[in-house]
Amino acid sequence: RRTLRVALLGAGSVGSQVARLLLAHGADLSERSGATLELAGILVRDVNAPRDAELPRELLTTDAEALILGADIVIELMGGIEPARGYVLQALRSGADVVTGNKALLATHGAEIFEAADQVGASVSYEAAVAAAIPIIRPLRDSLAGDRIERIFGIVNGSTNFILDSMDRQGLSAEEAQRIATDLGYLEADPTLDLEGFDAAQKAAILASLAFHTQVSIDDVHREGISSVTADMIEDARRAGYVIKLLAVCERLSEPAGDAVSVRVYPALIDRDHPLASVHGGNNAVFVEAEAAGPLMFYGAGAGGVQTASAVLGDVVSAARRHIAGGVGVGESARQSLPIAPFGHI
Ligand code: HSE
Repeated sequence: RRTLRVALLGAGSVGSQVARLLLAHGADLSERSGATLELAGILVRDVNAPRDAELPRELLTTDAEALILGADIVIELMGGIEPARGYVLQALRSGADVVTGNKALLATHGAEIFEAADQVGASVSYEAAVAAAIPIIRPLRDSLAGDRIERIFGIVNGSTNFILDSMDRQGLSAEEAQRIATDLGYLEADPTLDLEGFDAAQKAAILASLAFHTQVSIDDVHREGISSVTADMIEDARRAGYVIKLLAVCERLSEPAGDAVSVRVYPALIDRDHPLASVHGGNNAVFVEAEAAGPLMFYGAGAGGVQTASAVLGDVVSAARRHIAGGVGVGESARQSLPIAPFGHI
């Protein structure tokens, strides 16, 4: 059986869980992949830093170049734009398949990355970039590829949902709730990304790009975070029969002149009877409305190291199967270009 060398870039809350699970279940994952998956090394900034999971020291390296060039599959879980962008492009150009959870990178440089992948027939998989463990990327890219998606809306940020939910149901202050969310590994290293809606906007851009077969970047997304939401507002909303949720909405607008796309993230008043009102803690829920399929709902853990690792490993198994089948990329760079309309009508 062929051996595929897997390089892991990053050993933060997700990366360390991916490494742990890959080492613990390597035989099973190899069996399912049809190739022996060998964790060749883990790129870290500091080999002595404390980690969420105990990792074999001999696998830790600070030599990105050597690790990437020797790999068949590169898992990028560093986050941020650089050096992640450079490493991903380097991996693709050397013919490796890439698995990434990096929503910032895809929402900013998606077009460049998909084009680099298609040029060499490599694949970029990113189930972990949106809604952690919930399968939403592949359903949009594959299962619903034959349908016409009209709208996607829902809760795509676990930490802000946790914070708003804890304030609503337990009467916690925003600071207390944020501290617990941090301990659970829900928040980004820079919490502003969550609190100001950047993380949700990145995910919305990725979902809209896939759903409408176009290229939406973070700059196209109208964004408001939760930092202006006070305990009083939550209380007032509750008395009026509502709950405040950070909502992402991606809509296809059918205009006489042709279709356009509206993507927005904002704290919304949700009727307490709506299913979104029952999305508690760090969970996410995404509703997809398609012409033929009708309404679909995706629900589950939207944040957390080990939950996100599940999505990463699913992509690794798929990439390995494709790699040994001599497969080509998924052709994601071939997209139409739809105009952006900043505000839709909901
Ligand atoms: N910070 C993100 C969130 C992690 O809270 O949803 C998962 O993408």
